[in-house]
Amino acid sequence: MKAAPKPRSAPVAGPDLASLRERALSAMERAYAPYSRFKVGAALVGEDGSVYEACNVENAAFPAGTCAERAAISAAVAHGVRRFAKLVIASSAEDPTPPCGMCRQALIEFAPDLEIVSVTRNGKEAHWRLTELLPQAFSPRSLEHTSE
Ligand code: THU
Repeated sequence: MKAAPKPRSAPVAGPDLASLRERALSAMERAYAPYSRFKVGAALVGEDGSVYEACNVENAAFPAGTCAERAAISAAVAHGVRRFAKLVIASSAEDPTPPCGMCRQALIEFAPDLEIVSVTRNGKEAHWRLTELLPQAFSPRSLEHTSE
């Protein structure tokens, strides 16, 4: 008899979208954004189902400010999580906003085809895949096979 194929480790089902939406929205309310008045919250879900929340933190020296999404990546990586299943973003804008270019680049390092959901306080929602937002990305693979 042929041996049964080895089960591939399937990603653990994470929290449902409704609870991730609430977590991203409450992180957003804790944002420190006195200069732009544009608050952003993020709930980044690891493949193991763990969730890392973060918000944007601005600074009087403007470039020292940080985006919610990259702060969430840092929190996850610091906890040993580098593979992601989903990112939920909440912003104080009227319409759902996608992650900025720098955050797209930071995300693609760890999750080439991340599912991204963006929500607003008034219940609007948009869905993207990261490859759609950052096609033809420069990624770790781009650094392979270099020659001097
Ligand atoms: N911001 C984020 O936190 N994430 C994004 O993807 C877009 C921009 C923050 C940075 C700044 O504090 C404010 O939103 C306005 O740009």
